[in-house]
Amino acid sequence: MVVVRGATTIACDEQEEIKRAVKELLDQISSCNGLNKDEFVSIVFSSTSDIHSYYPAKAAREAGYQSCSLFSATEPDIVGGLKLCIRVMVFLEKNILPRHIYLRGAKVLRRDLSSVYDVAIDGPAGSGKSTVARRLAEDLGILHLDTGAMYRACALKVLDCGVDVNDERAVVDILRSATLDVKYENGVQRTFVDGEDVSERIREPHVSMAASSVSKHPSVRIHMAEKQREIALKMSCVLDGRDIGTFVLPDADFKFFLTASPEVRAKRRYDELVAKGHKIDFEALKAEIVARDEQDMGRAVAPLKCAEDAILIDTSNLTIDEVVAAVKSKMQEQI
Ligand code: DC
Repeated sequence: MVVVRGATTIACDEQEEIKRAVKELLDQISSCNGLNKDEFVSIVFSSTSDIHSYYPAKAAREAGYQSCSLFSATEPDIVGGLKLCIRVMVFLEKNILPRHIYLRGAKVLRRDLSSVYDVAIDGPAGSGKSTVARRLAEDLGILHLDTGAMYRACALKVLDCGVDVNDERAVVDILRSATLDVKYENGVQRTFVDGEDVSERIREPHVSMAASSVSKHPSVRIHMAEKQREIALKMSCVLDGRDIGTFVLPDADFKFFLTASPEVRAKRRYDELVAKGHKIDFEALKAEIVARDEQDMGRAVAPLKCAEDAILIDTSNLTIDEVVAAVKSKMQEQI
């Protein structure tokens, strides 16, 4: 079964406009793919929730698509999504290479539902990248890989073993002998070291700087990047980290670099840690974040930096919703 996809937007939510738009969309799908109307097996429509006046399925019948089964549904609202948009999937019992049709400003967010695409979100601590990456992955229905959690897990194991985080050989020996895993529970990443769920422990403040220290060792980075590529090549992912767009996936389909002033980033971390019950000195936390930035930006291999082709977003004065909407609309523009 081959699927042709398409979408169009309408000028207003009126019966005649919906009928016109549906006919135009189906006729174009038909002519651009060299199809007869009776070769359509099923047509499935979904439209944004601001369309009420007429069922696209009914409009399709009236446009002459008589012999196939038809279905219309309403989509949930998506922040930053297109308004007054009708999407369609046409199922065919014909072996063609489909040409998807997008009219009147409608765009596809996923270039092809069957293809793998990756979104790289890099940035310093507290820039909001993990939260944005998690929300984006949720909305797109793809995996979120928090690569910082992997360095944190390595650091935790090194600390637990009483080894010096600056001793590259000892750190790599531990990394090679330990089993580091990420698993997903209800779409949320859990991090395991030798079978133990360390998702909470890796967030403890003393692990942050240790993670930055182990991550400066070239052999550690190469090991981690290989694991991350293995995951990202198999399935569509949003990956957040420091070097995703520059080193791990230089050909990522979409690249973003989030930043914010050190003051704002320190305040975000402070609020997060205090909410978890930690007693924190704000100035010391801010100094630690600045020191970590310097260490992450200054290392020889794959330092923290904005890829030349990444879109830079300063999140200092934006809410998470606003950043997610900005990322999505930039993605739409690139498709
Ligand atoms: O994003 P985070 O705070 O969880 O990351 C912890 C440390 O791990 C960070 O200071 C540097 C390192 N890291 C890295 O070097 N490369 C990545 N892709 C992710 C994190």
